[in-house]
Amino acid sequence: MRRLRRTPALRRMVAETAVSVDDLIAPLFVANVERPVEVATMPGVVQHNFTSLVAEAERLAGLGVPALILFGVEEERRKDAVGSAAWDPDGVVGRALTELRAFLGDSMVLIADLCLDEYTDHGHCGVVRPDGSVDNDPTLDLYGRVAITQSRCGADLVAPSGMMDGQVGAVRAALDGAGFTDVGVLAYAAKYASALYGPFREAVDVRIAGGGDRRSYQQDPPNRREAVVEARLDVEEGADIVMVKPALTYLDVIAAVRDAVEVPVAAYHVSGEYAMVQAAASLGYLDGMAVAAEQVGAIKRAGADMVITYFAAELAEALNG
Ligand code: PBG
Repeated sequence: MRRLRRTPALRRMVAETAVSVDDLIAPLFVANVERPVEVATMPGVVQHNFTSLVAEAERLAGLGVPALILFGVEEERRKDAVGSAAWDPDGVVGRALTELRAFLGDSMVLIADLCLDEYTDHGHCGVVRPDGSVDNDPTLDLYGRVAITQSRCGADLVAPSGMMDGQVGAVRAALDGAGFTDVGVLAYAAKYASALYGPFREAVDVRIAGGGDRRSYQQDPPNRREAVVEARLDVEEGADIVMVKPALTYLDVIAAVRDAVEVPVAAYHVSGEYAMVQAAASLGYLDGMAVAAEQVGAIKRAGADMVITYFAAELAEALNG
């Protein structure tokens, strides 16, 4: 075997997988703020205002990154029990999508994360019953409303991330009913109840009431076959792309889902995965960009067709030489 490893050209020739700029999706946060706000737990990541968001999207487009996924950071005073700011066209995400579409045209794919936790005062991803549990079916109606608003404001794809049962079917039906038959659904099909979302919750100012967690609706980390069931169901309900999240602690799940469905598979290299690399790199313990490239390469090797990563811009710069 070693004779095929001798030179860079030989290695390139026999490489089984590769990361391309085309595989990268950049997550961006937008808030109603005067100046971009650094996210303390994610060095290098900011909560954008509308101006800096458009500038960053234009930079990403210039680097050849094909897509971004948008998360809204809502002001505390606009949060309520049902998360109504999520389907307000004048809410942060609605305004951001409108501006991005106006400035970018079709040069970038605009994906809108579709969830309620950034907009509810209790921090859960859906409507909460008096006993504190999340009520599945009433939540689906609200996801439908959010999907319609996001589409009206310019989303190419909506990405339901709340892990409610039937969310993909409900969102697809709402979109079709409102005439948005061309808007696709990127389904967070297998989203695990992971400790690796910690830095993200800081980025979006989400705290779950009473120190609660999402274990009753997100997937249980020990389970792989269940993820395949979830992904197949999402495809049946009309998902255009299915996603596994987080990525590195679930590479086996990515591989299993890739084998089980025919639609594109995405993976989310999440905030905790980013923060660990950045923290170690800042201490000089490792070469952050080399590790990031190796990690995203591993996610692709496992079977992901595209990767959402906070390293998107830096990786694109490195790949562009
Ligand atoms: C929920 C959502 C979360 C992430 C994306 N969408 C957090 C959660 O489920 O608590 C996590 C992303 C990351 O950690 O990078 N709206």
